[in-house]
Amino acid sequence: MSANRPITIRDCAEAVIGAIGRCGDDMDRLRQEFKAPMARLLARPDLLTLGVPREGNNVAFSQYLYYDSQMSILLYQVPRDKPIPPHDHGIWETVFVYRGRLKHTVYERLDDGTRPGFADLKVIDDRILEQGDMALVAPPRDIHSFTGLTDETFGITVVNGAYRPDRHYYRPEEKTYLIKGQRNAR
Ligand SMILES: [Fe+2]
Repeated sequence: MSANRPITIRDCAEAVIGAIGRCGDDMDRLRQEFKAPMARLLARPDLLTLGVPREGNNVAFSQYLYYDSQMSILLYQVPRDKPIPPHDHGIWETVFVYRGRLKHTVYERLDDGTRPGFADLKVIDDRILEQGDMALVAPPRDIHSFTGLTDETFGITVVNGAYRPDRHYYRPEEKTYLIKGQRNAR
């Protein structure tokens, strides 16, 4: 494949699926294998016109670029200065920056999870992601939060499989969490 030619979403999805099949639980290798096809996808200027609307978990503009009931490639706008609160997934998840910049923070949970409503989080990574950058979070360190730093910040997420049904939304400063779907969950 030429690195200069625009990649089709289908070819990108096939490359991603191949990488997932080859890498298994080796997250470092998965990061490496995602780089080339996703860089070519991110280089496409027309992705905002290609998606199918989806109901976002945390954001207003969210679209499917690809979906096969197992693997999804999602494109969404990240609101400026409005933090997406820390949340977990139960599976690995990636964030690629398609447009703009965002602040991305990864947390480790220090408590053993046995006390209902209580969670003690420690920041283990906190960085600015620029256009073209990626982050991959995976259990047991699959808690992250992010904030758009520009008016037009768009992210692309690749995810494989189903999120855990009882996703937690954390308030680290209070050492509490809510289960998604609970009243007042953010
Ligand atoms: Fe997430």
